[in-house]
Amino acid sequence: MSESSFLYEGKAKKIYPTDDPNVVRVEYKDDATAFNGEKKGSVPGKGELNNRISALLFTYLGKRGIPHHFIRTLSATEQLVKRVNILPVEVVVRNRVAGSLARRLGLKEGSLCPSPLVEFYYKNDERGDPLITEDHIALMELASREQIRQMRERALQVNELLIELMTEKGVDLIDFKLEFGQDENGKLLLADEISPDTCRFWDRGTGKKLDKDRFRHSLGGVEDAYYEIWTRLGGEDRV
Ligand code: C5P
Repeated sequence: MSESSFLYEGKAKKIYPTDDPNVVRVEYKDDATAFNGEKKGSVPGKGELNNRISALLFTYLGKRGIPHHFIRTLSATEQLVKRVNILPVEVVVRNRVAGSLARRLGLKEGSLCPSPLVEFYYKNDERGDPLITEDHIALMELASREQIRQMRERALQVNELLIELMTEKGVDLIDFKLEFGQDENGKLLLADEISPDTCRFWDRGTGKKLDKDRFRHSLGGVEDAYYEIWTRLGGEDRV
């Protein structure tokens, strides 16, 4: 398929049509951006690792009852997913303080949240993806009240399931971001990706960051950290 035929190009992925109008092909890129595009770079091997890690995590969640868009892996950097209309809302779940939560409220990085925190952000590059409330979502009609309820409930279920998986692998799940979309029947599906680009993972013993914060804060060893997550999850294919 020619390069010009993509449907959409995001910061780290490209979406292509397929013969089936309800299925699209996602290509994961090595490109990395942070701080709403202010920092740009490329991490060789990242596309392949995120494609594989995301496929593994969606499969794991699907087996445990979370409806999602993932169909199957096509190649090292490509996967087939159900076509959905992504709701312009990012759902973040936090177990420990980090990133924007630490910055916004002046809280200490690493402090435990007494219970998981759910936050919503308006997916809007121009406005820098602002933090919004459920009432703002309803006001702007970004999602219905029922969809907001489902996103919150599923995000907390995903948190429980990912904690269970990562704890076994000696990794603390600090926080993560999810996106949801509606399929052709209006059903809400977990979509986008779940990878070290969209989660914070800290090694349990050392606290070492095994995620995109290595890129954001120029800590080095980005690809090695992603590869570490892949191998801890049981990944075998050398990338
Ligand atoms: O930056 P912040 O602390 O709000 O990020 C919370 C979590 O959501 C982190 O795991 C981060 O990687 C993820 N995130 C994301 N995409 C965004 C914003 C945050 O994957 N646009």
